[in-house]
Amino acid sequence: MKNKEKKRDFISFADFTRDEICDILLLAARLKKKRTSHVLRGKTVGLIFQKPSTRTAVSFAVGVIQLGGHPLILNADILQIKRGESPRDTGRVLSRYLDAIVIRAHRHDEIMEMAGFADIPVINGLTDLEHPCQVLADLLTIMEYKKFKNPKALKGFRLAYLGDGNNVAHSWMLAAAMFGMKLSLACPKGYEPRADYVGLAQNANTVGGGSISVMADPKLAVQGAEAVYTDVWVSMGQEAESQKRSAIFSPYQLNKSLLSLAKPGALVMHCLPAHRGEEITEEVLEGPNSVVFDQAENRLHVQKAVLTALLTRKRA
Ligand code: CP
Ligand code: NVA
Repeated sequence: MKNKEKKRDFISFADFTRDEICDILLLAARLKKKRTSHVLRGKTVGLIFQKPSTRTAVSFAVGVIQLGGHPLILNADILQIKRGESPRDTGRVLSRYLDAIVIRAHRHDEIMEMAGFADIPVINGLTDLEHPCQVLADLLTIMEYKKFKNPKALKGFRLAYLGDGNNVAHSWMLAAAMFGMKLSLACPKGYEPRADYVGLAQNANTVGGGSISVMADPKLAVQGAEAVYTDVWVSMGQEAESQKRSAIFSPYQLNKSLLSLAKPGALVMHCLPAHRGEEITEEVLEGPNSVVFDQAENRLHVQKAVLTALLTRKRA
């Protein structure tokens, strides 16, 4: 039996303190230079996917290998989860074989249940409510472009988020609050972030200097922003709503005209996959301000830092 008391999870961005996130970002920057280590030697990490994934699946698998461990990518369709085995039993059983679980799940409460019963760290690879690993990579990307050596320098940074107030937006709100950033979210009516996340972000906003504003007007949100971020209009599992969402979200498209309202040189960010011509134009995605492929690469480095932090006290 592993010691349940000592394990930590990374399910919400708020599961780590600001100091812990700072350590993870600094470790990620070091791991970007020195790619391999042996901190996961002899350890196996299960990567469970209930939804498709390119970046999360491959970057976690490669990251585990670069840390000397073994990744096991599991499409949830081949597990008994598919036939209704509970997250709690799955977590208890997998704890007897694995050293950590990364899971992309339909519902956030499924991960919470699994983590509550697992003796090993559980890491959120995206749920309907959060995508914390993505936002860690986004923060590292901003630090690199702004030449911030210390993550605390993110304080006061202005980021505009356009589109659906769901998983990526929620994790961004918690991150912005933690670092005292100025985050403006422009979301269509009915697609705003959940009220409980607005409350969580307000409570987490202890550093001072930060603000989280939710509005409907994308032009207002983008004004003076140092980075403009967008995500798909139709998240995984919402495909039946595609037509309806396209009409509702079209004023939120990140295009040249909207970008021109941001601070000159503002970073263009997207978690990917992108739908060119929908939430972002080809011209902006491929333009000089776009850092989207750096964000994607940084998934690898930050996740290696998270695994190192959760599975060993040693530094890589
Ligand atoms: N951004 C992101 O999580 O990408 P994948 O869906 O490809 O994992
Ligand atoms: N909001 C998107 C993010 C994809 C990485 C989704 O949930 O599909």
